[in-house]
Amino acid sequence: MSPGDVVNPVVRRLRPGEGAECEAVLRSLPAWFGIEQAILDYRRDVDTLETWVAEIDGRPVGFLTLKHHNPHTSEIQVMAIREEAHRRGAGRALVAKAEERARERGSTFLEVKTLGPSRPDPNYDETRRFYVAVGFSPLEENSLWGGVNPCLILVKHLACSGNEVAPDTKTVSYGTDRLC
Ligand SMILES: CC(C)(COP(=O)(O)OP(=O)(O)OC[C@H]1O[C@@H](n2cnc3c(N)ncnc32)[C@H](O)[C@@H]1OP(=O)(O)O)[C@@H](O)C(=O)NCCC(=O)NCCS
Repeated sequence: MSPGDVVNPVVRRLRPGEGAECEAVLRSLPAWFGIEQAILDYRRDVDTLETWVAEIDGRPVGFLTLKHHNPHTSEIQVMAIREEAHRRGAGRALVAKAEERARERGSTFLEVKTLGPSRPDPNYDETRRFYVAVGFSPLEENSLWGGVNPCLILVKHLACSGNEVAPDTKTVSYGTDRLC
């Protein structure tokens, strides 16, 4: 199967004992997840927060962990898809589930943090393109993670964004304005 092939990812809740598989997904992506403490922190988040798994052809290929901060805002704490399954819709399907869950509990905003564009990194360029493609807008870059790793906050206003993660949505360029 090649990137772009039509598949129907299935999204389901994490099952007991599957945290190790999520950690293995993170460790399979050293270009994105190279800091040991961060991997351990994400593993704890997978086990303690709300985590969803994407399957393709009955096999888990990735996951998303969701944190509900307050009555207004939920956050994608971490998400990752095995490299061999990139560009097959699993990420989009997971974000759609996160959005559905955030709406259900009354959140107005869905946010996500990732490496900011002021530190050139072709892998994270792709990550930011993905988030914009599924409807997020860059909010601000800050130094939450220290000067070496600029943190970009992206946000999606759920009340006015409609169903932009639907499979027929195509990429928009990074930095596109999204006005309510
Ligand atoms: C970012 C990530 C979660 C996206 O998951 P995915 O399953 O590959 O993405 P999808 O197939 O659902 O892509 C949805 C859309 O996003 C955009 N997109 C995804 N990957 C892209 C890339 N590499 N370059 C440009 N656009 C991209 C496209 O518009 C795509 O739609 P299309 O394939 O119909 O053109 C996945 O690539 C990944 O795990 N990356 C490494 C870890 C990571 O970045 N995690 C987030 C850390 S903050």
